[in-house]
Amino acid sequence: KTIDITDALPDIDDFCDIPNARISGEIFHRQDIYEQELEKIFARCWLFVGHESQFKKAGDYITTTMGEDDVIIVRQKNGSHKAFINACPHRGNKVCFSESGNARGFICNYHGWSFNIEGNLIGQHESGIYESSQFDASKWGLREVAQIDSYKGLIFATFDAQAPSLEEYLGPMTWYLDALFDNQEGGTEFVGGCIRSTMDCNWKIAAENFVGDILHAGWTHDSAARAMLGGAVSKVSDFEESYSVNWNGHGYEFALDTVGNVAVLGESALNKYLHTIKPSVIDRLGEFRANMIGSVSSCTIFPNFSFLPGQNTVRIWQPRGPNKIELFTWVVVNKTAPEDIKEKWRKGAMITFSPTGVFEMDDGENWEYCTKTARGRVTSQQDLFVGLGMDTYLEETDLPANVYSGQLNEANSRAFYQYWGDLLKSPSWDAMPNNNKGKAKAGPKASQISDKTDGIG
Ligand code: FES
Ligand code: FE
Repeated sequence: KTIDITDALPDIDDFCDIPNARISGEIFHRQDIYEQELEKIFARCWLFVGHESQFKKAGDYITTTMGEDDVIIVRQKNGSHKAFINACPHRGNKVCFSESGNARGFICNYHGWSFNIEGNLIGQHESGIYESSQFDASKWGLREVAQIDSYKGLIFATFDAQAPSLEEYLGPMTWYLDALFDNQEGGTEFVGGCIRSTMDCNWKIAAENFVGDILHAGWTHDSAARAMLGGAVSKVSDFEESYSVNWNGHGYEFALDTVGNVAVLGESALNKYLHTIKPSVIDRLGEFRANMIGSVSSCTIFPNFSFLPGQNTVRIWQPRGPNKIELFTWVVVNKTAPEDIKEKWRKGAMITFSPTGVFEMDDGENWEYCTKTARGRVTSQQDLFVGLGMDTYLEETDLPANVYSGQLNEANSRAFYQYWGDLLKSPSWDAMPNNNKGKAKAGPKASQISDKTDGIG
């Protein structure tokens, strides 16, 4: 079934005027806009649902949510993954309550319908009564999510059968994703479990913070960094070379060659590890992306999947109403990293970006108040400024995607809100405007680009 777009929508241009670098506070609190987001964004876009390392054998499953829809992701006997709505097709009871595990199948608590890992209905309590009711069990399996696919260990799914392929959706952002998720043979894995916590903020404020808001770090996080981690946050404007890149609302901002500048990487063993692997990363990905590893950077894949390469924290900002999110947080490491390095990264992420992490508390307070003020009837109607770096687009570059010079730049935030508005306005994927003006693939010199050779900045 395709997604049915029927509801009338307030004119989204009133809330999101990117050419004039303006958004409205109303987008952070209006229930009607939130309902539209669930339908036109979370029911259509590719959403991150898990990492392949969480599924070692057939029957391994996790439960998560896509938007507010509960889903089960389960590894099949052939090594592929299927995603199902975690609701019984009899009366809709939740079928699986555990966050993860291994199962031969799933049995509903209510009337005992049971399903195998392929989602087929294979039995019921008092099954004879169904037989005498000419019941066709083959039509009443768990409802499968329309598409599921993965990129370098990251599993995404979409409810929309008409959605473009994951490859097309991610576009050239994969070139940058490789700097974290494919810098060593064997790729990455999640270590430890999933931390679930809540914040009273709108999901876009968190997603936009990771899409490209390094500006806040030196101010918001400075005191925590000095108190807890033994040093100030680096001055981003001092970095020699940094970029903001985006595509389809996804955004990655990064500085080059700043290993050791991320507060948690004051941990010398992690710095040493990153320097040790660098020659092999140059062989694998080229010098440019080797200079991205461990550096001051952040990324959001639209709409709500984010990570920080320096701290190796990965998270989903799960929407729970216009004023609330549930954070799902993991730690990602190279599979081939020594065990003590993996453990240092896990602990580092816990003291920075977790419910007990100092930086998470800093961010959470800001995000909650950005959301709370937007509830004021008059306050919500004030314009909010997203205009930093309006003239920083780089025409002449071999780097892929839409490339802007500098991290102190709101280009990625603008691209995020532009794509958000386009999705709310577009009744189908075919109707989506294409605002990408950069290269879909890296040019031949991309691996060696630096500000010295390419006239950047
Ligand atoms: Fe699941 Fe009835 S609701 S068996
Ligand atoms: Fe922050």
